[in-house]
Amino acid sequence: MTITVDGIKLHVEEFGGTGLPVLFVHGFPLSGEMWHSAIDALLKQPGPARDCRMIVPDLRGHGRSEASDAASMTRYADDLVAVLDALGERRPVVFVGLSMGAMLGFEMFRRHRPRLRALVLVCTRANAESPEGVARRETVAQTALAKGAEPIADDMIGKLLARNATSALRQKWHEIMRATPPRGVAAAARALGARPDSLPTLREIDLPTLVVAGEEDTITPLEELRRIHDGVRGSRMVVIPGAAHLVPAEQPEAFAAELAAFLRGL
Ligand code: MLT
Repeated sequence: MTITVDGIKLHVEEFGGTGLPVLFVHGFPLSGEMWHSAIDALLKQPGPARDCRMIVPDLRGHGRSEASDAASMTRYADDLVAVLDALGERRPVVFVGLSMGAMLGFEMFRRHRPRLRALVLVCTRANAESPEGVARRETVAQTALAKGAEPIADDMIGKLLARNATSALRQKWHEIMRATPPRGVAAAARALGARPDSLPTLREIDLPTLVVAGEEDTITPLEELRRIHDGVRGSRMVVIPGAAHLVPAEQPEAFAAELAAFLRGL
């Protein structure tokens, strides 16, 4: 389905039933497709998880959503709320985000706290970008605009998946990243560079929170997830073996089992 927000057409998929709403937000430069196999596994889990209303958008400039020249954590978060409004979903959602998607969870908490029921923060970090990181993001943006998303996909694919990932999975995710609109890559890279420091937000979070790490993740290593877990009162943390950064696509059954257990506890 397509939902127009701020003049931009956003692609949104829905799965499951009419139960607890769960919003799945992908990372950079990925798409909602990264949740598909975990959602398939979730639909087979015992208990209420399979009846959840699962909402899976492509952020602006990613997947099948249109790009804009600029973006920000604020813009993406407001897009997500506009999507929920357009779907008539006024109930607080369980927000499941990976990496940049989880950074948007922090932004949602600061801007739209009443729209949230719980947080699932997967393979992410809470700090602001370092000055070197901002410069690196700007190089990514300029490379994407000059040469397309392929060099970015080439650079990321080695880090995205665990050492023993199949070549089919590698090829699939390289293709998805390569197909991301260059303007979308550039806008997201700059938005990541300009993201606010969410470390002070951690101690404000008063929602049930699950923190998920990939054992082999080098993009957002375990220490970053431990820092979030230590900062969010009452949070639970799990480490998924055999996965790097793209945990839900690499280990969909293990991820779905953890998510289903968390949902059952709400
Ligand atoms: C992501 O998955 O969103 C990215 O790896 C985030 C990043 O580049 O730091």
